[in-house]
Amino acid sequence: MPGPIRWPAWFGDLTPVAYGADYYPEQWPEEVWADDMALMAQAGVNLVTVGVFAWAKLQPTPDSWDFGWLDRVLDLLAEHRIAVDLATATASTPPWFTTRHPHSALVTAQGVRLTHGSRQVWCPSSPAYRRASLELVERLAARYGDHPGLALWHVSNELGCHNAVCYCDQSATSFRAWLKLRYGTLDNLNWAWGTDFWSQRYGAWEEILPPRATSSFGNPTHQLDYMRFSSDELRGQLAAEAGLLRRLTPEMPVMTNLMLPSAWGDLDYARWVDLVDVVANDHYTDSADPRRHVGLALAADASRGLAAGQPWLLVEHSTSAVNWQPINRAKGPGELRRDSLVHLARGADSVLFFQWRASQAGAERHHSAMVPHAGPDSELFRQVQALGADLARLAPLVGSQTVAPIGLVVDQPSWAASRLDCLPSHRLDFEAGLRAWYEALWDAHLTCDVIPSSAAFDRYRLLIVPHWSLMDLVQAERLRDYVEAGGHLVVTFFSGVADASQRVHLGGYPGALRDLLGVRVEEFRPLLDGERVQLSDGAVGTIWTEPVQAVDATVLARYLDGPSASYPAVTRAERGRGLAWYVSTQLDSAGLGELVDRVAEQAQVPRIDAPADVEIVIRRGPTAQYTFVINHSTEDVGLRFNGVDLLTGDRGPVIVAPAGAVRVVEQPLG
Ligand code: GLA
Repeated sequence: MPGPIRWPAWFGDLTPVAYGADYYPEQWPEEVWADDMALMAQAGVNLVTVGVFAWAKLQPTPDSWDFGWLDRVLDLLAEHRIAVDLATATASTPPWFTTRHPHSALVTAQGVRLTHGSRQVWCPSSPAYRRASLELVERLAARYGDHPGLALWHVSNELGCHNAVCYCDQSATSFRAWLKLRYGTLDNLNWAWGTDFWSQRYGAWEEILPPRATSSFGNPTHQLDYMRFSSDELRGQLAAEAGLLRRLTPEMPVMTNLMLPSAWGDLDYARWVDLVDVVANDHYTDSADPRRHVGLALAADASRGLAAGQPWLLVEHSTSAVNWQPINRAKGPGELRRDSLVHLARGADSVLFFQWRASQAGAERHHSAMVPHAGPDSELFRQVQALGADLARLAPLVGSQTVAPIGLVVDQPSWAASRLDCLPSHRLDFEAGLRAWYEALWDAHLTCDVIPSSAAFDRYRLLIVPHWSLMDLVQAERLRDYVEAGGHLVVTFFSGVADASQRVHLGGYPGALRDLLGVRVEEFRPLLDGERVQLSDGAVGTIWTEPVQAVDATVLARYLDGPSASYPAVTRAERGRGLAWYVSTQLDSAGLGELVDRVAEQAQVPRIDAPADVEIVIRRGPTAQYTFVINHSTEDVGLRFNGVDLLTGDRGPVIVAPAGAVRVVEQPLG
């Protein structure tokens, strides 16, 4: 059966697009539940996530358990043929837990121990938390593992949201154990961290602390290793819960919801995904971002990139406003539908929201939901119903894969390191650089997988590598092999500079990539705020420049002014059967657009011709392909297709997508 969800038997051979939300029946009197079932049927809901924050309800005191209400909820859902993504409920400890185990609560870098009263306050290295959470998981698995409605396990919730890093003494002990595994000896650690600088040399493991508040800049590799360690501690929780679930319910798929893209900078997700059966993501658009639909597409492409191209699950997004941004904008006409279908276009096999019914109380009472405070007699609920009907029509594409000939490479340690201090310019923002290249590809109607640097490269005709600053020689070799075998590679400034420990490669930048790119740089010359440089090909650069020497590369554009005036700015080297481009400044969007056109043409990446702001994405299954046309523009567009739109039944040769509308054109293959 295609798709990653183990659909209950009542679905027969049908694999639907999963549609639903986080469902918190514990927030409501039981009389409301029957109404929920009726409304879910009207909306076409077939999967809900249950129990995410239910620990305090399930274990009201240290020695008592109450599963009765959850039994009734799961039975009711099954009766109404709604499948369940059951959370392990370990995300938020009850107040009795922190009262009994005060050392389980997180400590900040300033030494402040947090208290309960919010959520996710546990320290990832707390043995008491690990024990108690696994007891809860074990009881849930034993009780519900063979419930007929169970479709999927949902480990914790957004691991690392609020509690990614803890600086307590327990964390210090675990950190030392982690360091011993990584370095073996203190000599190795002292070398990697460069502790002869500023008299930081460690003579005993016990002297090593978490990078707590200190006088001035902390040791950069101490800080980076602490980020790595913290990600691994959360991974450890995922491994423990997932391992237990696998042992107790071997047939049931397991996932955890990630927070792509932004949390990837802190959490090394590529090391987590081998622990789950399916990649799942939560995504919320940013009210302040005028091109928020492009940010959404990036998140979806990163989910697919981490899933190695396989379908993935969208397990949270919003029907309208969230409650945690400075101004929580409501979604405009058609936006709910477009957002959901963009995720689907880019490989999601599910459309789930946070949450089913808008809460009446609590911190998130002003967050949108499928059923708003106004109730079902509302424009929002009518949109939710319409979307449910659309998704039912799109069932044929479940399991198909999004076609992406380009890899946009994320080196997570480089992203994490870019968030530290003492760098040449703090205007170099890794995520903004990633987004700029992503946006240029999006504008050119080119679909890319946003992939981790550990991914297989050979399936892509073109790789774009922004700011891969921490690169070992072995990784540089992988890139060389890729190019020599015929790959096309674009590398941007501040790449190849140092090794995984941030020790700078000597002999000139871009260090590990000097030979492959055929360039040598003696110093970075970043730009001040507002400074812009003109390039000979008409592009404009900001943020960064370099006096590039083209040792063994063709110069494509030079700096006409600014601190690197007359030096090459953009170069290209031929290596084996491929090409390696180097871009030493942050190009403006027009410059990036022209470069993307040129690079894509050289790499012979297939292009789709469509008007601006019309997003075109293809999913391909064994017998048909599905072309999504998402019209973000204010003009109606007509595109030539020999196929049928699954949403309206319209047939080619011309399919019209009115302004703001979505079409999904099915075309048989072969
Ligand atoms: C996250 C959490 C949810 C909820 C939403 C609100 O994704 O997982 O519990 O807080 O944000 O947007």
